[in-house]
Amino acid sequence: TAKRLWQLVRPSSGRPEAVSKPTVGFLYGSQTGNAENLARDAAALAESFGIKVLLAAMDEIDVEDLLGLSEVVFFLSTYGEGDMPDNAQLFWEALSGAEAPRFDGLHFGVLALGNTSYRDFCRAGKQLDARLEALGATRLLARLDCDVDFEEPAAGWTRQVLAMIAGENSVVVHPGEAAFIGHASTRHQFFNARLVERYRLSGPHSEKDIHHLEFDLKESGMTYAAGDAVGVKPVNDPDLVDTIITWLGVKPDRLINGKPLEFVLARERELRNPTAELVQAVAERARDDDLRRVWQSGDAQALGDFLHGFDVVDVLSYAPSASLSVDDLLPLLKPLTHRCYSIASSPLVVPQKVHLTIGSLRYMRGNRKYHGTCSSFLTNRLVDGTVADMFVLPNNHFRLPSDPSTPIIMVGPGTGIAPFRAFLQERRAIGAKGRNWLFFGDRNYHGDFIYRDEVLGHVRDGILTRLDLAFSRDQSEKIYVQTRMQDKGADLYDWLEQGASFYVCGDASRMARDVEKTLIEIVARHGGMSAPMAQDYVARMKREKRYLRDVY
Ligand code: 2AM
Repeated sequence: TAKRLWQLVRPSSGRPEAVSKPTVGFLYGSQTGNAENLARDAAALAESFGIKVLLAAMDEIDVEDLLGLSEVVFFLSTYGEGDMPDNAQLFWEALSGAEAPRFDGLHFGVLALGNTSYRDFCRAGKQLDARLEALGATRLLARLDCDVDFEEPAAGWTRQVLAMIAGENSVVVHPGEAAFIGHASTRHQFFNARLVERYRLSGPHSEKDIHHLEFDLKESGMTYAAGDAVGVKPVNDPDLVDTIITWLGVKPDRLINGKPLEFVLARERELRNPTAELVQAVAERARDDDLRRVWQSGDAQALGDFLHGFDVVDVLSYAPSASLSVDDLLPLLKPLTHRCYSIASSPLVVPQKVHLTIGSLRYMRGNRKYHGTCSSFLTNRLVDGTVADMFVLPNNHFRLPSDPSTPIIMVGPGTGIAPFRAFLQERRAIGAKGRNWLFFGDRNYHGDFIYRDEVLGHVRDGILTRLDLAFSRDQSEKIYVQTRMQDKGADLYDWLEQGASFYVCGDASRMARDVEKTLIEIVARHGGMSAPMAQDYVARMKREKRYLRDVY
């Protein structure tokens, strides 16, 4: 273990350093790369102070490796239903298990990334923080839980933690040097992408509203790789903006720091997900009604249930019109942040464009109709020929195998097919010899088999070696992608034994979870293994980066 650890230590000067120097770990568990970028920035800054660093994904080291570190700083995101990111799961299993060692004397810090729109905000970070304490480690400073606009708080926290570490290692941190991290952090490079093509993919009778979009990248200078995603900055629904302005009882062109209020609400504030602070402010001003009663009860669970599906307009409707001023309200709204979508094309086939597959989110609650902020912007409000603000989000953990002859298995129901459309385009373009197997599904064959002609074309041309379809509502019993995996379990295991990479894209909370369970069952059954052995087999696939997920 010690040997592995030292191999991972990056010598700052290019030549091996004396092993005696204390090493500070910068470990990340990252799904989309935000936590990884923060860890990289922090480690680079620490190195510039002469600190010896170990920078790694949590799953790249053994839990026991922590014993060789003087301090360790974790950057850990939470995704799905409060889950650990894929590259932290093995580490977490070991750390939370009964056989984890004690870490008395180890100093640590945890920076947690999450999203307050989800119930289990920063759950992964909170669990890690509590577990390390339980195992005897000592906090360098309190955990920081960051919401989606994490850059500034994260930079501030990182400066603090580095100052403490540097202090312990007797390296002076000059405030000017430390400030660099605020600028070096991961501010995205947005560009204007012009919408040049959009059509509906789901059929006229489908309950889904899925669209194919093409954006022109010419002049942006942006490039991407198959498997990457884009971040898109939405513009809010003008009806929501109008309703809020009417509620406030002010003019839409009222200037806020030089910008019209209408513009600020449409482009700079989150209107879908209200903050706890807004709920509190409204409850304090509310008439004696349900919201006020639930809020006063102090029952967080009941409040969460009551507010489920509420947007900012719903919350405001509980307080008398204009009972908050513009200046009161704006700080109670989150900044509007980008949404991420997997790119559905290969740059080898459409070098100047990105294709996106967008399922427009719509639902009713009571008699109000709701729309997803960014999906409705892209599929409805964005006018053909006009531009959207976007950036390319490299997805380095979700790539085709470097060897084009490696077989791949792709599980991508619904809009989860997007990156696999890119993979298939790419493999066709380079004439890759590897076999390709796609599991696809949704509710109904008629209506929901998006990209059908293309997919069937790939089958005809021999690009797609195997295609298995699972339409859940075409018959009385439910058939899901994992049902089809099970049916073909023997072949699937054969492919894995022949070195196939296994990819999953789509819904994290149900589909991806069940697909993983099924994968382990298949390995156990067809590999003649016990359940723990099959779990190990799949864990090894993860470690070898042959089991890759792009789930949300
Ligand atoms: P259902 O709604 O008919 O149950 C996209 O929503 C598709 O995913 C639908 O066909 C849906 O089926 C299906 N789905 C629902 N739960 C799933 C699960 N746990 N695993 C895989 N697919 C699921």
